[in-house]
Amino acid sequence: MSFKAFTLALMFSFGIPWLMIIVVPFSKMRHVEPIYFTEEADGRDDVYVPRRAGRIANGAAIYAANGCYICHTQLIRPSFAGSELGRPGWAGFKEQDDAGIPVDTRRETTPFDYVGESFAQIGLMRNGPDLSNVGGRIERYVKEDDADAKTPENWLFLHLYDPRKKVKAYWSTCPSQAHLFTTRNVYGQGSPDAVPGLGGEGEEVLPTDQALALASYLISMKKDDAVPYSINYRRDKKKAE
Ligand code: HEC
Repeated sequence: MSFKAFTLALMFSFGIPWLMIIVVPFSKMRHVEPIYFTEEADGRDDVYVPRRAGRIANGAAIYAANGCYICHTQLIRPSFAGSELGRPGWAGFKEQDDAGIPVDTRRETTPFDYVGESFAQIGLMRNGPDLSNVGGRIERYVKEDDADAKTPENWLFLHLYDPRKKVKAYWSTCPSQAHLFTTRNVYGQGSPDAVPGLGGEGEEVLPTDQALALASYLISMKKDDAVPYSINYRRDKKKAE
């Protein structure tokens, strides 16, 4: 191989990934415009700010420190680049409200979804399910098939402590985060903070502050607030217009 061909091959192998992974996303995200509601479509014209409440900043730090991002993404790709909008519970939910009116909260991720986090945890690989809407999914698990876990927080504690204990998930490869809990002997009535369903005879398992922050962060992940019509994904949107 001539030196010229070698240099060109080197430029291509590093140059193209550099362009696609660094230059294109950087130039597209450099000036992110706010998303506005519009008077015609939404009946209001303020800026859209995603609703999220919980210990987002410190929960995200614990999420990062424990490597959750290695197997979990937080990114619903646009429909031209993936099929996540069609996966139940990943991009949102399609159901009926109390009055029986169909509601569709499915949508793609916007840069605004990471507001309040110092780092966008888009993730490295997708070994486990995408977590963009995990808070909403857990609320439904608790109501539906996993009624043993009384609250979403309790469901998460059980999952974080031992993911393989869940019904139908003996095969789970989600690593146990038992180091985020402390186990001690029960004295008297025991602690009200102990996680129901964990610990052996005479023992109780308490979540540490880290487990509390992580659970609060995961529960905050649900994108079910009203979004501007322009970013609302609806298959029937075209038909309705
Ligand atoms: C080795 C890869 C891997 C790592 C690292 C990992 N997970 Fe998982 N996770 C999985 C897999 C696979 C599943 C699907 C099986 C299951 O539900 O247990 C999963 C499932 C989950 C679920 C349930 C999602 C659902 O919709 O049912 C949650 C919540 C979760 N992981 C949180 C975490 C958190 C928090 C961390 C970091 C502390 C983490 N995971 C680290 C692989 C991983």
